[in-house]
Amino acid sequence: MNYQVISPSTAEEWQGYYQLRYQVLREPWGQPLGSERDELEANSAHRMVLDADGAVLAVGRIHQLADGWCQVRYMAVAEAARGKGLGALVLRSLEQQGVVWGCRQLTLNARENAFGFYQNLGYQAGRALEPLYGIAHQQMTKRLRLDGSAPEWLQWCGSLQQTWHQTIPLSAFMQLTVDQFDGHLLACRAPLPPNKNLHHSMFAGSIYSLMTLTGWGLVWLQLQALGLHGDIVLADADIRYLAPVRQDARTEVLLSEARGDLANLAHGRKVRQQLTVRLVHAGQVLAEFHGRFAVLPVQPAASGA
Ligand SMILES: CC(C)(COP(=O)(O)OP(=O)(O)OC[C@H]1O[C@@H](n2cnc3c(N)ncnc32)[C@H](O)[C@@H]1OP(=O)(O)O)[C@@H](O)C(=O)NCCC(=O)NCCS
Repeated sequence: MNYQVISPSTAEEWQGYYQLRYQVLREPWGQPLGSERDELEANSAHRMVLDADGAVLAVGRIHQLADGWCQVRYMAVAEAARGKGLGALVLRSLEQQGVVWGCRQLTLNARENAFGFYQNLGYQAGRALEPLYGIAHQQMTKRLRLDGSAPEWLQWCGSLQQTWHQTIPLSAFMQLTVDQFDGHLLACRAPLPPNKNLHHSMFAGSIYSLMTLTGWGLVWLQLQALGLHGDIVLADADIRYLAPVRQDARTEVLLSEARGDLANLAHGRKVRQQLTVRLVHAGQVLAEFHGRFAVLPVQPAASGA
């Protein structure tokens, strides 16, 4: 079944929404009805997934904090519906809301049983928190938008394009350009004519290169924001060509979908990041690429005797 994430709107949906929260997050610890809500409900965004009969399968909430932060709370999936990607679906939708609000960082207090779930979705472990109902909790955070201002992002994108064209001759021949970068979404473009095949659609090798360089570009932009340098290499990737590309290609990659922290590069360590790049046209995904990038610390140049 193809599940849709919605915001509760009818009285029945709201009732089912809070009921699942209570059943999963409060009832098993003997907490009273009402303890599943707080004073921020009216100022928050809520998401849920229903099955074909209208039963609530998954819920979650996000609200804004000060200084560009937002917080996710009350993530819960019905026991029988776990492990099917519904928790991830709800969380991605909440993250997207955080991006729309213009937030730079997302925080949450994770129960110990859910650490792996959040880590798997790109969250970094923070400080240990006071246990709640005897359950260990840990703060976890995720960056939704890079540091820097719009003029800085524009300047970085110019440097990125120059780096591609000067160091990877193929990218210049392909006429690869940065189309858009807003601190969260990087979009790149390549025209059809220099990249076409004998069927007059885009050559699979050009598509692969375009998607590799789009992912590479997002890693490079993150290093700019962190003030770090390193050699970025593609370690492993798979691609699905879903439909022919008969026009100029636009690829997109989202910072919130990145898995893996780059900060340890500052300590001279090799770091890794997984990214998903999509080639999109008129709302349809024509190709999807999953790449695992490694960033190697730059060795200091040997000094002369
Ligand atoms: C934690 C919870 C929300 C996860 O929802 P879910 O729908 O079961 O998770 P998904 O199926 O979307 O999992 C997404 C990914 O995370 C992984 N994952 C899920 N739970 C995991 C765990 N406990 N440890 C490690 N990885 C986990 C899945 O394998 C999947 O990985 P993949 O994308 O590589 O295949 C759900 O188990 C739940 O409601 N638990 C009880 C309530 C709770 O603890 N809520 C969190 C409060 S902080």
